[in-house]
Amino acid sequence: MRLAVFSDIHGNIWGLKEALRQMERYAFDRMIFLGDIFGYYYRQREVFEELRNIPGLIWLLGNHDRMFLEAMDGRADEARLISRYGHSYANLADKGLGDIAAFFRTLRPRAVLDADGARILCVHGTPWDPLNGRMYPDNPVQSPESYAAFDIVLQGHTHCRMRRFTELVDDPGAGGSNMAQPGFSGRFVPDGNSQGSGVSDHSVPASVVSPESDIRPEKGQTLIVNPGSVGQPRDGRGYSFAIIDTKERSASFVPFAIDRRPLYGDIDRYDPDLKKLKAVLERRAVK
Ligand SMILES: [Fe+2]
Repeated sequence: MRLAVFSDIHGNIWGLKEALRQMERYAFDRMIFLGDIFGYYYRQREVFEELRNIPGLIWLLGNHDRMFLEAMDGRADEARLISRYGHSYANLADKGLGDIAAFFRTLRPRAVLDADGARILCVHGTPWDPLNGRMYPDNPVQSPESYAAFDIVLQGHTHCRMRRFTELVDDPGAGGSNMAQPGFSGRFVPDGNSQGSGVSDHSVPASVVSPESDIRPEKGQTLIVNPGSVGQPRDGRGYSFAIIDTKERSASFVPFAIDRRPLYGDIDRYDPDLKKLKAVLERRAVK
């Protein structure tokens, strides 16, 4: 089975629409959205309508989606949300979002599916904290045991593209050279093209997928993929989603670009003083 996986839209309808348009170029069986349509940018209603028309979409709750629900329930400090994440959180009760709230109360930040004999975990955060956990490409893993039961773990939330495998731990009785050491099983092997590697693929046409897609896991390894963000990439590598082949246990990233003008028009209108809303989109991977 092939999966199209995307995450962290944050009200950027133009990012979502371009991702969906690019996906038409690929063959896949199922789409998975790892969560977060709220916060930062402003087109949550349009994003919701777009997503609800996707048949069979596996749709997770993100931490911003949970904050939206808390705000709708009067259990969040709205001024604090606005100061940190912008005016998409302003006056939520007056925006006619009750149907979205009702739907979101049915969502969870975690889902498990089986395909081609592979057990796949989908989380917004991490296996050890599905809503809020973070693992950046150069982070050591927390709770490696929480990955061990799965062949593939798909996770979002950091807005940083990542693909790696759990470290292979040999059976001590097999006499292999990759002997387990104290703490060894808790370390991960970067995919060679992770954050800070100096690789910037802004110029890569969307039809060219990552050459890393040839990497295959060894038996017993877990493939961990963060597709990056279709709404607010933070790693300087641009917008992206991922195509996963569950049989091959492989992942490819599809980078794409959008016309930023309508998004910037919204920011200028609603949050002209919240500089980070544009600055984060203008990061470039370190050379
Ligand atoms: Fe998130």
